[in-house]
Amino acid sequence: MLCSLILAVFLVWATSSAHTTGRPCLCSALLPEGLQVNCSSLDLVELPTLPSDTTELHVQDNRLTSVSPGHFDRLVALKKVSLSGNPFHCDCRIQYLRIWLLRNRAVVLKEPTCAGPDSVVQKATTELSDEYFSSCLY
Ligand SMILES: *[C@@H]1O[C@H](CO)[C@@H](O)[C@H](O)[C@H]1NC(C)=O
Repeated sequence: MLCSLILAVFLVWATSSAHTTGRPCLCSALLPEGLQVNCSSLDLVELPTLPSDTTELHVQDNRLTSVSPGHFDRLVALKKVSLSGNPFHCDCRIQYLRIWLLRNRAVVLKEPTCAGPDSVVQKATTELSDEYFSSCLY
């Protein structure tokens, strides 16, 4: 009884603190030119809006399940991206990220993988086939 009460309290605490650590991404200028944005290990569930001159983006080890369509399109200066260690949910909504990654392979440091659905757990998003997405509407 006491044990389940403690567990319940823990769950409430864990859920309320689950969204973000509240710490901002770290931005630093790179020499001779460039801007590094380091958002690694911040418990982010969503990518923040990023400066369009970002050259290095580190978002590994967060809680991202998807990347909204168009999110990376403005970031034309990107030279390095790391997105691994996020629980990406590979349903139709992962198509934007997959296609962006396929077109920008040279800048991707480590391939992000799927945490679900079950049939694709641990597959790289870029490994998913076109047929896998054939029932998606967009
Ligand atoms: C990003 O920040 C984390 C936490 O402060 C640090 O451990 C890591 O080395 C940084 N990564 C880079 C590429 O600077």
